[in-house]
Amino acid sequence: MTLMDQASGLREVARRASGRAQTIAITSGKGGVGKTNLSVNLAATLAAMRRKVVLLDADLGLANADILCNVQPRFNLAHVVAGQRALADVITPVPAGFSLIPGASGLAKMADLTEGDRRRIVADLDILSDTADALIIDTGAGIGRNVLSFTSTADHVVVVTTPEPTAITDAYAVMKVLVRCGTAGKISVMVNMVKGRDEARQVFDRIAGVARQFLKVDIAFSGYVVLDPAVGQAVRKRSPFVQQYPHSAAAACVQAWANRIDHHVEMAPPPRSGFFARLANWWR
Ligand SMILES: Nc1ncnc2c1ncn2[C@@H]1O[C@H](COP(=O)(O)OP(=O)(O)O)[C@@H](O)[C@H]1O
Ligand SMILES: [Mg+2]
Repeated sequence: MTLMDQASGLREVARRASGRAQTIAITSGKGGVGKTNLSVNLAATLAAMRRKVVLLDADLGLANADILCNVQPRFNLAHVVAGQRALADVITPVPAGFSLIPGASGLAKMADLTEGDRRRIVADLDILSDTADALIIDTGAGIGRNVLSFTSTADHVVVVTTPEPTAITDAYAVMKVLVRCGTAGKISVMVNMVKGRDEARQVFDRIAGVARQFLKVDIAFSGYVVLDPAVGQAVRKRSPFVQQYPHSAAAACVQAWANRIDHHVEMAPPPRSGFFARLANWWR
């Protein structure tokens, strides 16, 4: 065993002992920019890197991560929130090697619950995230209260955009709200559907430049994924493209992105309280 192996082994032990999943919210201004595909493929890639990953489908409008994961869950988070099912009945292992909490529009009702109900659910969810290394949240698009409740409490917020001017404008709008709402986590930009790295950097530089000038914040570059027919082909097979087409250009991009994210998963100090406890506070 080399010193490097030993050091990384120690970090691993420390991280596990700290027992809190890093939460990564994947969001966007405009819809259809690739949040769900990126979330599912990031989850699959981190799982292949032996991380214990939970993907929470929190898109209350278009919850469809289950389709890309090729599972047909009978119950979802709405049933948990309504007290009809335990979280253990809802969380679904998927073929790609991670666990999915299927999404539901009923999640908005969280605010109507009694304090006791809420405490029970939050405790259940926090136990779950305690046993995971990474909790990836596929939020909906836009700047509604529901999306913000997830982004404001996550450790990392990844804002997805494409090179389209409308997507860039909307990404900036989301970022502005994130900054104004006092997001606890780091904000970064993922540029999807690009021709290559140069185009991704150009898009990123534009957004980061405006953010620095007008919001006085530094935004990190999260990564990029090229426009690749393998993505659509894998969707039709209901399988993550990193598994279906591991040698595709898009898969290589996601691997590079996952390496970067995994660095945070491994190195970031654990937050003081669990993600869902923070979320419950936000809802109150
Ligand atoms: N890198 C890419 N290359 C080609 N098509 C992509 C890429 N990323 C996403 N898509 C396609 O874009 C569409 C929207 O993706 P989706 O993940 O559902 O977006 P969102 O969750 O943001 O609404 C899907 O049809 C998907 O196959
Ligand atoms: Mg989606």
